[in-house]
Amino acid sequence: MIKKYIYGQPIETNAVVMDIEAEKDSIQALNEIQTDDGKLFFTYFMENDDIVYGLGEANRGINKRGYIYESFCSDDPLHTEEKRSLYGAHNFIVISGIVNIGIFVDTPSQVQFDIGYTSKNVLKITPSDDNLKIYIIDGTSAYDIVKQFRKMIGRSYIAPKWAFGFQQSRWSYYTEDEIREVVKNYRENHIPLDAVYMDIDYMDGYKDFTVSEERFPNFKDFVQEMRQQGIRLVPIIDAGVKIEEGYDIYEEGKYYQLFCKKADGSDFTAGVWPGRTHFPDFMNTNARNWFGSKYQKLISDGIEGFWNDMNEPAMFYTDDGIKEAVDYIKEFDFDTNDSNKFFELRDKLTGLANRRKDYESFYHNMDGQIVRHDKVHNLYGYYMTRAAGEAFEYINPDKRMLLFSRSSYIGMHRYGGVWTGDNQSWWSHLLLNIKMMPSLNMCGFIYSGADLGGFGSNCTRDLLLRWLAFGIFTPLMRNHTALGTRNQECYNFGDTQEFKNIIAIRYSLIPYLYSEYMKACLNDDMMIKPLSFEYPDDEFAKTVEDQLIIGESIMITPVYQQNAIGRYVYLPEDMLLVRFASPSKRSCCVMHKGIHFISVGLGEVPVFIRKNKLLPLCRSVECIDMLDTSKFEIISYTDREITYTMYEDDGYSKNYDSPDNFVDFAITENDGQLGAVCKKTIVKLSLFQ
Ligand code: GLC
Repeated sequence: MIKKYIYGQPIETNAVVMDIEAEKDSIQALNEIQTDDGKLFFTYFMENDDIVYGLGEANRGINKRGYIYESFCSDDPLHTEEKRSLYGAHNFIVISGIVNIGIFVDTPSQVQFDIGYTSKNVLKITPSDDNLKIYIIDGTSAYDIVKQFRKMIGRSYIAPKWAFGFQQSRWSYYTEDEIREVVKNYRENHIPLDAVYMDIDYMDGYKDFTVSEERFPNFKDFVQEMRQQGIRLVPIIDAGVKIEEGYDIYEEGKYYQLFCKKADGSDFTAGVWPGRTHFPDFMNTNARNWFGSKYQKLISDGIEGFWNDMNEPAMFYTDDGIKEAVDYIKEFDFDTNDSNKFFELRDKLTGLANRRKDYESFYHNMDGQIVRHDKVHNLYGYYMTRAAGEAFEYINPDKRMLLFSRSSYIGMHRYGGVWTGDNQSWWSHLLLNIKMMPSLNMCGFIYSGADLGGFGSNCTRDLLLRWLAFGIFTPLMRNHTALGTRNQECYNFGDTQEFKNIIAIRYSLIPYLYSEYMKACLNDDMMIKPLSFEYPDDEFAKTVEDQLIIGESIMITPVYQQNAIGRYVYLPEDMLLVRFASPSKRSCCVMHKGIHFISVGLGEVPVFIRKNKLLPLCRSVECIDMLDTSKFEIISYTDREITYTMYEDDGYSKNYDSPDNFVDFAITENDGQLGAVCKKTIVKLSLFQ
């Protein structure tokens, strides 16, 4: 049961698609408090054992209790533990205990969630703007509430199947030849690969929708050449449009008044990669349609996927900021002995980026309504991605495109996925990736993933192997790294065998992973869940944050510590451990409910098959185009008849609901013997009881 409450006159975010009539009474599930100076906030008293789930792309654990989070899309590449904001703003939480309640705070500006940080059992929600909508969802469990929420916000974006292949990125591969070299190395080493990313340097002077003729002289032919090798190229698109006379996007945006404006009516200027830029006013329908139509050019060159970046929007500086800093320096007393003054000087310069003051200094024209940016800040990346997603619908109505964004708000999940931005090559960020995935799923971001191996800093061989061994299970499986870091492609760490094996395991699991992904999207469900969602009565399972349920059949237990030879795992029921060294080299053993230590060598992937479930595996190949889904091997842990329904389609069209897309794999009894039955060829059945 969902109740909706409206405060003041909120700006429409289009996060919710379900028609829900607003309540006339005031909110009961929360205490609504108005301070003397008129500020509104809400509190809720949490029981000691309550768990708080949600917040999507946020720092810390699956259970959000004990910290304070600010929903304010932030370009901050150092995700250290104390940070309160990352790139996404996903204002949905579920408090789960004896009572279960879901809360969605639908407002485009900043919201603070103090979840027992100031006072242990008090949840305090403080919106920065009193105009907002609040949805309260009652349910029988946290999982039940998430499913209701997901229905309310509409079907998640569906990626093409090739986007389940392994993808390689770096900032940047500068030329056609550098990309050819990457592909050659992957193919020669027989490490599967489906896509290579083109970071900002493919452009001419970082100008959106241009391709450097010098470095990519025959771009269309090059795209084709890569396709013939089973590779898709995925270019980046940044939010800021370079200010340059004669550059068509700049000229058009200026002429048709499609950029964000300052109070005096001039176009707002901020510095990003191209230097001084203007920001398209994505809150405006004309600007969205205009910007969206620009993707057409690259699509006609054969491009099938994009990543939208810098769309918080990120600003390195503004003209005003620079002027203030310069004035400050001019006045600075260089003879001072006051060390605080030096820190002040330092902060003045490092604080030039993403200043709150700058976010308060420009305006959107929301189809007639003029709104200051900070009031709708959390929608900017969402609406950029909406612009692209809506354009793809008319550019290529029958074909799925890959699309994901850095900044996001709930609602954007209908147009694209997310990647979690600039993490670091740190073991703690592998763990953060593990913990974030179920929260992203709760908020509808099913096609998602982190930069595997870490973006900033230098990755080590063991970290990359362990991270990939987890990345197998995230829909977006992309290795990406920053400018200036050590080469992070899998063939740059000596012996490639273990990399090859791990990525091959992903490919043999793709039919299962894609099936579970598609079912999650089509049924408004989660693909990646915390243990507690599947074992709600198991008190211990509720505390486990480093093991996840992937789809209906398996539980994973990634290793995320350097030099570990294995790890402790908790089994909420008897399960079958399949320890993969490669798709075909594996050992299986039944393990009983409880805590165990399992050894996991570097390059090994432990997968637990749940009781009375089965896992279909296909033969691994070097790219998705070669995947043969007519033959399967089945591993099952059952002593009775069971069925697994696999979703399978062509991977690019949109005929999702056709009954032909569902294939049953059954373990049935015949003459007292269990055997597998399927319209596919079953090459081998490994049955454990
Ligand atoms: C941002 C993105 C990163 C990209 C870089 C250069 O930091 O988050 O992924 O590589 O910009 O475009």
